[in-house]
Amino acid sequence: MTTDLTIAMPKGRIFEEAVELLRKAGYNLPPEFDDSRKLILEVPEENLRFILAKPMDVPTYVEHGVADLGIAGKDVMLEEERNVYELLDLRISECYLAVAGLPDTKMSNVAPKIATKYPKVASSYFREQGEQVEIIKLNGSIELAPLIGLADRIVDIVSTGRTLKENGLVEYEKIVGITSRLIVNPVSYRMKDDTIEELVTRLTQIISE
Ligand code: PRP
Repeated sequence: MTTDLTIAMPKGRIFEEAVELLRKAGYNLPPEFDDSRKLILEVPEENLRFILAKPMDVPTYVEHGVADLGIAGKDVMLEEERNVYELLDLRISECYLAVAGLPDTKMSNVAPKIATKYPKVASSYFREQGEQVEIIKLNGSIELAPLIGLADRIVDIVSTGRTLKENGLVEYEKIVGITSRLIVNPVSYRMKDDTIEELVTRLTQIISE
C-alpha cells in the first residue's frame, strides 16, 4: 500500500533542480511546478504533497513532522542542526562555503568582524582556526558587508563565483563543499518506511547514473 508523503521543498534556486531530479526518477509532477506561486502543491496521482519553504526553514518543517521528507542544502543542515536524518546526497546544487573579502587586506587584529548568514558554521570555523571573531548575522546580500566597511570578511556560499567577482571580492579559504540532501523525520522514517524506501531507491538510481 502506498502512503501519502509530504515533502518540504526549498523555494528558489534548488527547487528547479530538485523537480528535475524527481521527474527523472519517474514522478509525474505537473507543469504547475514550473511556474506557480502556490505554497502547497498536491500531486494525488503520485500520493505526494509538496510544501514550498524558505531553504533555511526546510529542516524545521521536517523536524516537527509536518513534512515527512525535505530537500535541504548541507549548508542549511550544518547551520540548523535539527533532529532529522540525512538519507541521501542528491548531488544537486553543488557549491561551497568560503571565507571571502576585499583583496590584499588583513583581518583586523582585534576581534575581526565576519558577516554571514551562517553564524554557527562561521563561529565554529574560526574557533577551530584559533581566531576570535565577532559574527555579524545578515540575511542576504552578504557581499555588501566588506564593501561598505561592515565586516573584514564574509562567510558565504560560492557557486559560480560571479557575485564575488562582480563585487571585487576574493576568496580566502574554502570551508566545506555543499550539495543538497534528502532529509527525513525520524518518526515518518519508521512509520512510512516502505514508501520512503521506494522514493530513495528511485532517486538513488538516477543519481548514480
Ligand atoms: C547566494 C550566495 C551568494 C551567491 C553565490 O546568494 O549567498 O551571494 O548566491 O552565487 P555565485 O557564486 O554563483 O555568484 P543568493 O542568490 O541565494 O541570495 P542572498 O543574497 O539572499 O543570499
